Amino acid sequence: MPLSTLPVPNRWTRDQHTANMVSPENHTNGQATTLTPELTYFTANPKPTTLDQGLHQARTFIQHHASSNRRVALVTSGGTTVPLENQTVRFIDNFSAGTRGATSAEYFLQAGYAVIFLHRQFSLLPYSRHYSHSTNCFLDFMTANAEGKVVVEDEYQSQMSKVLKQYEKAKRERTLLLLPFTTVNDYLWHLRSIAEAMQPLGANALFYLAAAVSDFFVPAARMVEHKIQSSEDFHRTSAAAVVDNSATKLPAAHMEGKSLIIDLDPVPKFLKVLVDGWAPEAMIVSFKLETDPSLLAEKARYALKKYAHHLVIGNLLNTRKWEVLFVSVAEGENWVRVEQGLAGNGAEAGDDGSGKKDATVEIESLIVPEVARMHVMMIDNCASSA
Ligand code: PMT
Repeated sequence: MPLSTLPVPNRWTRDQHTANMVSPENHTNGQATTLTPELTYFTANPKPTTLDQGLHQARTFIQHHASSNRRVALVTSGGTTVPLENQTVRFIDNFSAGTRGATSAEYFLQAGYAVIFLHRQFSLLPYSRHYSHSTNCFLDFMTANAEGKVVVEDEYQSQMSKVLKQYEKAKRERTLLLLPFTTVNDYLWHLRSIAEAMQPLGANALFYLAAAVSDFFVPAARMVEHKIQSSEDFHRTSAAAVVDNSATKLPAAHMEGKSLIIDLDPVPKFLKVLVDGWAPEAMIVSFKLETDPSLLAEKARYALKKYAHHLVIGNLLNTRKWEVLFVSVAEGENWVRVEQGLAGNGAEAGDDGSGKKDATVEIESLIVPEVARMHVMMIDNCASSA
């Protein structure tokens, strides 16, 4: 399909979808009818205590950039935890360090976007990521001079000053907002609220969903309050039944004899409601993570068809820093790859498990300009069809 046919924002393409949906809290533009798991989720799972404050910051940020017609990207980053207890001692987590999100956020800022960086607390952050790896600790870049003052060693001056300048620019121009989450529940509440707050941006809003969101969770109704007791002598509290939708069930995580049994519910897929209801005019980019190369393209195509958004970026766990697959209705399937010769030791020396070191060229420096190009084209198409 030619580039000029990149889809216009969802407002013009999704009327049929939204006509079939309803929200008890009017979160799908007030349209009527079926209660789906995505919509009941927010009545059944508690609002995070930090949400109102984060949302207030987001609204101020969005207003500021909407008034100057700047494009705003919501970049999600890092893994989500799944607590097993209300007073959480144990939780399930995933591998994501937030490299993709933090690195991409820098390139979006470089491309002129304002960025809301919705990230897993303590995962990598834009700019500071260059110095927060265990293999790249900031203390190793410093020394004390003859007067005892701490200074950056000569060999690191130029790289550090480049990063510092970019960081200071983002601070000065107020183009970067950092909002943390921890659990999958925190993430989903923030995603919905921020998406709705971004609606005034229209097509200038971009969603870049790089966070590794859990597919399974413990719903509030089946969560035990206290630490699950491993000793059989103390099982009575953790195995107590809970009432969920008028059926009596065991807690999602409980002991049976010496075994910990974990029976998780599926997390509703929120991409559909994001596309149809929360962000009807924005460009939406989702990531698809797989480990089996033979499944990647098929799963990415499937996601694009199912959620009817703009772009799926497929990546494999072991090669995600070297190659990704773009799948879009407008441009079909295209691999984006870091050139072989450019692979070597980078500023951020990490290991992705493939045995290779990080690339000198960060793949996000190729991904983000492509996404920005597609976004601008979508905005132009939208303006010309208005
Ligand atoms: O952080 P790094 O170590 O750099 O790793 C980056 C990454 C591999 C995590 C990133 O590039 C990536 O692929 N992120 C998406 C991982 C993921 O959740 O993939 P998925 O196939 O489970 O989900 C596909 C999409 O559905 C995602 O955009 C996700 O936001 C969305 N989703 C997932 C679960 C869920 N319950 N609801 C959703 O809407």
